[in-house]
Amino acid sequence: MTLEFREVTEDNFDEFIALEVKLDQKDNFFFRSTKPNIMSLAQTYIFKGARILALYAGDTMVGSMFYSREDAVPSNFWLIRFMIDQRYQGKGYGRQAMLMLFDRVKSENGGAPAILGLCYEHYNKVGEHLYRSLGFEPTGETMGGGQIVARKRV
Ligand SMILES: CC(C)(COP(=O)(O)OP(=O)(O)OC[C@H]1O[C@@H](n2cnc3c(N)ncnc32)[C@H](O)[C@@H]1OP(=O)(O)O)[C@@H](O)C(=O)NCCC(=O)NCCS
Repeated sequence: MTLEFREVTEDNFDEFIALEVKLDQKDNFFFRSTKPNIMSLAQTYIFKGARILALYAGDTMVGSMFYSREDAVPSNFWLIRFMIDQRYQGKGYGRQAMLMLFDRVKSENGGAPAILGLCYEHYNKVGEHLYRSLGFEPTGETMGGGQIVARKRV
């Protein structure tokens, strides 16, 4: 099914913060936030370059993406948190969402190529497989408490 981004509003907020990953995935997030969507909403309020979006397959909310533009280098973007709810994983939504993000970032960069960075835990083999297969290359740096940083030109 085709995915789309939708804003988080007063109508879907409760559903948004109730999205959950699997028990063994709870430490996968940036700085190991255990309430990733609440944290991302709070950070969107604080950091003006940041955007939080809900992912929908038809009318079903299936996940979230939280990304930000870098203040110092505006053609650099970071995917800070990304999740597909445990009920909807393994259906291709994660890959589709990443491709949608590439288009979005490019368009927010006025159509010019942008650099998209992200990070993942060394034990997050599903995330690593997804990101590497999409062309993300580890930079050798770590961030967010030891997570592997990888980047890609989009
Ligand atoms: C990472 C995540 C977003 C991927 O979402 P998803 O919708 O399950 O991913 P997809 O269905 O598009 O699958 C992507 C790839 O991972 C593989 N994959 C998905 N779940 C898998 C599993 N449990 N075991 C092994 N491989 C798996 C798929 O086979 C696919 O590979 P392929 O396209 O080469 O066949 C999701 O697993 C998630 O939310 N994880 C918890 C939070 C997290 O780790 N976020 C990223 C932090 S950096």
